[in-house]
Amino acid sequence: MALYALGDLHLSFQAHKPMDGFGRVWKHHERKIEKYVGQTVGPEDTLVLTGDHSWGRKLPECREDLAFIERLPGRKVLLRGNHDMFWDAKKTEALNREFAGRLFFLQNNFVPYRDYALVGTKGYTFEGPFYLDRWGNITGWDEEREAQAAKLVARETARLRESFRQAEAAGYRKFVMFLHYPPTSVLEETSPFTEMAEEYGVEAVVYSHCHGESRFGDSIRGSFHGIRYLLVSGDYLNFHPAQVLP
Ligand SMILES: [Fe+2]
Ligand SMILES: [Fe+2]
Repeated sequence: MALYALGDLHLSFQAHKPMDGFGRVWKHHERKIEKYVGQTVGPEDTLVLTGDHSWGRKLPECREDLAFIERLPGRKVLLRGNHDMFWDAKKTEALNREFAGRLFFLQNNFVPYRDYALVGTKGYTFEGPFYLDRWGNITGWDEEREAQAAKLVARETARLRESFRQAEAAGYRKFVMFLHYPPTSVLEETSPFTEMAEEYGVEAVVYSHCHGESRFGDSIRGSFHGIRYLLVSGDYLNFHPAQVLP
């Protein structure tokens, strides 16, 4: 039994949005997902997919993408990504009813794994626009957008807190925390998400969303204040799922 994570599958079996234009790593990426997840994840394992599952805009346009995910081995837990338009934040319970026993949608709830609780939410990170000098250093940013981002961060931290609250009420004291967005923006060293991770003493923080060589270093990777931070974007891992726990 092991816990794996992989993010940003960006499937489009129905929406037909080829990803090849984003670089060689995306060429036939769905075949790589099938192959590498198939080689790594066993039927007793848990695979957390950290958002941006499908390019479909509504659930009927995501059916084939979700069916593809269902056919992957192991227990599948899905996090909401910024592109997952099919997943209305208020409809998580309805999705969990519809896909019961096949897929689990993680938001305002938690998933038990051994003596751990898997908690998570989409998260949010301010992504600019930033103003740069001619050497590429950040000299300022759009303050209106930053204020809007702060509101979204507050909403997402409340959802994450609810996930922790339910897990604690059920008796869990060990946690793994999942986010779609990176835990910190490029301006930050810490954030409400890293603070919550430290408050609950989580084993690891797992996130994705960052695409392309130039963005992989946008947030924390490795050990920070005693917590492991793992970036699991599909293109970062060449679509090999990362093991989070044995
Ligand atoms: Fe993405
Ligand atoms: Fe994303």
